[in-house]
Amino acid sequence: MSEALIQKDYINKAKAYVKEYELLIGHKPSACVTTFGCQMNARDSEKLSGILLETGFDVVEDENADFVIYNTCTVRDNANQRVYGRLGNLHAMKKKNKNKKIALCGCMMQEPSVIEKIKESYSFVDLIFGTHNIFKFAELLCRMFESKGMIIDIWKDTDMIVEDLPVDRKFKFKSGINIMFGCNNFCSYCIVPYVRGRERSRNSIEIISEIKNLVDDGVKEIMLLGQNVNSYGKNLEEDITFAKLLEEVEKIEGLERIRFMTSHPKDLSDELIDVMKKSKKICKHLHLPLQSGSTRILEKMNRRYTKEQYVDLALKIRKEIPDIAITTDIIVGFPGETNEDVDETIDVVKTVKFDNAFTFIYSKRTGTPAAAMENQVDENTVKYNFDRLLAVVQETARESVSKYEGMEMDALVEEINEHDSDYVTGRLSNNTIVHFKGDESLIGNIVKVKLTKCQGFYYLGEQCLKN
Ligand code: SAH
Ligand code: SF4
Ligand code: F3S
Repeated sequence: MSEALIQKDYINKAKAYVKEYELLIGHKPSACVTTFGCQMNARDSEKLSGILLETGFDVVEDENADFVIYNTCTVRDNANQRVYGRLGNLHAMKKKNKNKKIALCGCMMQEPSVIEKIKESYSFVDLIFGTHNIFKFAELLCRMFESKGMIIDIWKDTDMIVEDLPVDRKFKFKSGINIMFGCNNFCSYCIVPYVRGRERSRNSIEIISEIKNLVDDGVKEIMLLGQNVNSYGKNLEEDITFAKLLEEVEKIEGLERIRFMTSHPKDLSDELIDVMKKSKKICKHLHLPLQSGSTRILEKMNRRYTKEQYVDLALKIRKEIPDIAITTDIIVGFPGETNEDVDETIDVVKTVKFDNAFTFIYSKRTGTPAAAMENQVDENTVKYNFDRLLAVVQETARESVSKYEGMEMDALVEEINEHDSDYVTGRLSNNTIVHFKGDESLIGNIVKVKLTKCQGFYYLGEQCLKN
């Protein structure tokens, strides 16, 4: 029997347990999945919610729910600290409601030291599992209901990819879709390869068929997800590259927009630039993490490109696809980084003129090569460099984003504006946000909008009415 069928059996079994739980608490149980971290985790949370719905929970966005699941991230220490902080609140709630259940999963749980800490200081948690056995959530739910104590099930690694389990999408009109799992790059500062395991690509047939189903279900925009999408297909028997996969996805009728995350500069091929250039559906946005502009630091980071190679690549892309937005990630304070190294980074920011850059303070992750490096940078130097980098990033981003003021562009309307319900919020192909007058009926539609005013990172606009 396939693993998916085994899990479907567990879903049926879990239904009975959820019914029993309902009798115990006197109402239909509610469940809340809180996501920390990246798009991968967000997609995993949709899979968890899918199983919760199937087994009979109401899925809500409120941690007063009967069952709360934290899908955690450990990429930087502040992500971990947030989880510990919020677990304290959950404990207080559980003291008032003895039948409340709490589960922890995701990247943080793949670290043995975290599990030790939770066993010791957070013994009220009912279920802990990791990133590799998330497809067994229905089975783990059964075990949680069968047991009184804490259930811990963490796998070190897996080569399994389980298809066709239920998913509960957060948005009707857009969806993430995994094309690969894990990472083989071992950038020296990064914990992801240790907590997400080795790189595994999904077969293109499975990916295409999942996207077709999503489109039949109303999805207009998809985001292909992987830690390094440019190396998609390398471990597959079929002869496929990421660029070829994109060409196949492009053919899907009814699909309007294609995005992807993340591209590693070392693997970005001319073939990919060519496909992007010709495509009618691939969005005009590329997230291309730089991490540092200093070749010396890049080498220590094990990024496998130089400052010059990065700049050449970014400028080539800007030349081939002039209206593309390029965004990036930058780390400040990597061991041994000097002010001169940061000058190099600032130089790249000024040359490439990123449309946006996420700047992070280096966080030491136990077990990574960088954690053992000498010359960890002192706090004051990091702060000084972080602030001056951010100022330049903001300046160039403003300049790049504002280029389109006065133009008309297509926006996919995502939601009612958070601050003013007479407005809606849409996303342009280049990933910039635009706010304009409109109502709920527009959500999920692609409409033409005049970009009347650039407000730094976003636009105010007006819908262009058809004549
Ligand atoms: N696979 C993606 C990145 C995933 S992590 C890629 O290679 O682009 C997202 C971002 O977190 C990274 O791009 C990096 O900028 C940042 N990051 C990763 N580890 C970090 C650490 N130890 N300290 C600070 N930032 C880190
Ligand atoms: Fe981490 Fe590097 Fe892999 Fe990205 S490519 S997940 S930064 S190891
Ligand atoms: Fe965080 Fe895991 Fe993503 S560590 S950034 S949630 S892959």
